[in-house]
Amino acid sequence: MEFNICVLPGDGIGPEIISQAEKVIKRVSEKFSHNILLEHALIGGCAIDKHGVPLPNETITKCKQSDAVLLGAVGGPKWDKVDHDIRPEKGLLGIRKELGLFANLRPAMVYDELRESSCLRQDIVEKGIDLIVIRELTGGIYFGTPKGIETKDGERVGYNTMMYREFEIRRIVKLAFEVARGRKKRLCSVDKANVLDVSRLWREVVEDEAKNYPDVELTHMYVDNAAMQLVLNPSQFDVVVTSNLFGDILSDEASIITGSIGMLPSASIGEGGPGLYEPIHGSAPDIAGQDRANPLATILSVAMMFRYSLGLEIEAKRIEDGVNEVLRQGYRTPDIYTPGKDMVSCSQMGDLVVSLI
Ligand code: IPM
Ligand code: MG
Repeated sequence: MEFNICVLPGDGIGPEIISQAEKVIKRVSEKFSHNILLEHALIGGCAIDKHGVPLPNETITKCKQSDAVLLGAVGGPKWDKVDHDIRPEKGLLGIRKELGLFANLRPAMVYDELRESSCLRQDIVEKGIDLIVIRELTGGIYFGTPKGIETKDGERVGYNTMMYREFEIRRIVKLAFEVARGRKKRLCSVDKANVLDVSRLWREVVEDEAKNYPDVELTHMYVDNAAMQLVLNPSQFDVVVTSNLFGDILSDEASIITGSIGMLPSASIGEGGPGLYEPIHGSAPDIAGQDRANPLATILSVAMMFRYSLGLEIEAKRIEDGVNEVLRQGYRTPDIYTPGKDMVSCSQMGDLVVSLI
């Protein structure tokens, strides 16, 4: 089959981890005789340097013409002082919005091989961690208006608006119920309905939609409690659905209890159109250019891309098996290294996965 992938390496460790992911894509296309065309475009800080904006029109066009988008990471201290409206992060938020990617799927699972890397007590980890955070990605306080900083009564005031339209809640919740159906049929909706009006509406819509999914066990949890339960008893969770900001925070927490943020992939999908695949970690400027980053989150994002955007489940599984096997053989990048294992670089890790596909 023939596919076009738009590759956005971005900043910091982005280019290093993306190179490994590209090796994996090439290997899979050879093995399974697909014709996959990789086209590069700029996003984030490198786009600011070249074009003065974090999301050039050319990048948007290339993404829209592709079957899927693969992204590394954006941002870094170099662009800390640029105008707020053209920060590298705006490129990421912009492309999510342009492609209508309202659902961000962030699976967090503990690999048997990496149990000891978890920051949680072993008796908690042993009960198993295998959950997925489904984060609303194009609404909520990230995009709500009015927003800004202004002067009122001689003092500066900053504000944002957390707002959801009913259809935005309904479509993400439906998707979450569907995902739960394909897993352990447990859905936990996270909100702050004891305080926020927007959360009260969220909860009402969830309750309403639940009528169509009597086979899925639904619970509600306040976000503060959810943050606590994630470290206290993560095995209780199967699918978690929540708003943009809460999902941003909870998915970082969910990732680190599994061992390393360097292991977790994500998929952002919308209604039709290309999906976007990226590791959940950032650009890690402190280790950029040193060939020490963990490319596995990006490689696992490629697996999600094969599964969800290209509809190639066997290929997806083959990549995931390759990652599992590399870990089983004891190879570790520094972030997941424990004594007695073999420390490898970012590019060595990429080569190892490729050799096992
Ligand atoms: C993420 C990141 C982004 C977000 C930043 C870089 C804008 O933290 O993908 O989780 O807040 O969505
Ligand atoms: Mg985040």
